[in-house]
Amino acid sequence: MKVTVFGIGYVGLVQAAVLAEVGHDVVCVDVDQNKVDNLEKGIIPIYEPGLTPLVKSNFEAGRVVFTTDAEKGVKHGDLVFIAVGTPPDEDGSADLKYVLAVAQTIAMHMQAHKIIINKSTVPVGTADRVTAKVTEVLADLQKSVSFDVVSNPEFLKEGAAVADCMRPDRIILGTSSERSEKKLRELYAPFNRNHDKIIVMDVRSAELTKYAANCMLATKISFMNEIANLAELFGADVENVRKGIGSDPRIGYQFIYPGCGYGGSCFPKDVQALVRSAKGVGYQAKVLEAVEAVNYRQKEKLFDYIMRYYKNDVAGKTIALWGLSFKPNTDDMREASSRVLMEKLWEQGARVQAYDPEAMEETQRIYAGQDRLSLMGTKEAALNGADCLVICTEWQAFRAPDFELIKSKIADPVIFDGRNLFEPALISEYGLHYYGIGRGQSI
Ligand code: UGA
Repeated sequence: MKVTVFGIGYVGLVQAAVLAEVGHDVVCVDVDQNKVDNLEKGIIPIYEPGLTPLVKSNFEAGRVVFTTDAEKGVKHGDLVFIAVGTPPDEDGSADLKYVLAVAQTIAMHMQAHKIIINKSTVPVGTADRVTAKVTEVLADLQKSVSFDVVSNPEFLKEGAAVADCMRPDRIILGTSSERSEKKLRELYAPFNRNHDKIIVMDVRSAELTKYAANCMLATKISFMNEIANLAELFGADVENVRKGIGSDPRIGYQFIYPGCGYGGSCFPKDVQALVRSAKGVGYQAKVLEAVEAVNYRQKEKLFDYIMRYYKNDVAGKTIALWGLSFKPNTDDMREASSRVLMEKLWEQGARVQAYDPEAMEETQRIYAGQDRLSLMGTKEAALNGADCLVICTEWQAFRAPDFELIKSKIADPVIFDGRNLFEPALISEYGLHYYGIGRGQSI
């Protein structure tokens, strides 16, 4: 089928590559010429396991092309995806200017029926606004062309995006048009083989489903972080509590890992956006407000530990930091907990020596000129001359370190672990102090 994807970001690029892989004929449009040039040379703008070979092989086979030519893009696709960003504006609401700009572009160039598919995470009611925008532009141009707007939210996780897209656990189609449903069923048939994963519903419910899913997951995390903080004060170990409650299938083991807060481009933005949209319809989303507040506090947790350990004086200290990205298997630093920690440490006059398997370049870009930050080539090098070790991201490579080496390299025998990677009893055998999240210890 002929497909066009507007926006070559995370969602757009992965979706385009996966659709091309199963044989669809895909044109990707972006306003960024540099991005397009790089993709044509096989340079992929993001780190995502499996994505580079997938994009390259489909580009070489001619199944996916990249262009800044919007007119060509609109002409090509019977199905036109909108996968551009919806950054939060000053009050946390999702900013729809890019989505509506694409809607306008589609309307300007369309000559035949189009199914316009919203893939971006957009507030409830956006499909109606896209419909209104397209209708308005068509009327201005005195064109009479039919179209339909469908909500088809994406549920991929960074670090597992290709696999999630290849084997989705559900495909949500928000449409009341039989014609669109039929076309989208055909588009997704290669991903819908063993059992029917397609759930069809009205547009507004589909839009809300996306927010509800992310907000539910964020709620699980903040809830667990609250229990972790209580465990710490009660002298209980949250890791035991986690296993104890996860064994109830109604709760489940997933997304109840306590830590130094959730980050990334989705949870913080989506929780805030739903809180704001709720306000817009006169409702105070109290649970979600609390989810956000708990997360905000949790991101300061490691800093608070360090300050208490050093009796509020870290000026001149060198902190070794393992893990910068907001989670493993990505170089994404958006809303990463490591940023809150580093920025607070710098304010107090401490230096940070950091290592991350993938996010060093991105960190360098964000904090260019920050002389209290040194990016080190290995996790061991980050320990050289450091006073203590802090862990912010649970990369696999951090799970079984040489504790003897750690102890010999850091001046104070202490590890602050924001991801609960180790057993406290094991660490103490090495003569190291260990502060995890909610492990029954308080400083
Ligand atoms: C999230 C959702 O998981 C996806 O389903 C969704 O499609 C995506 O947002 C999106 O809207 O695009 P992602 O942001 O890539 O995916 O990352 P997650 O794996 O969900 O992790 C988010 C954050 O929560 C990370 O900082 C992670 O460390 C933290 N987390 C996760 C915890 O602190 N505890 C947990 O138990 C799980």
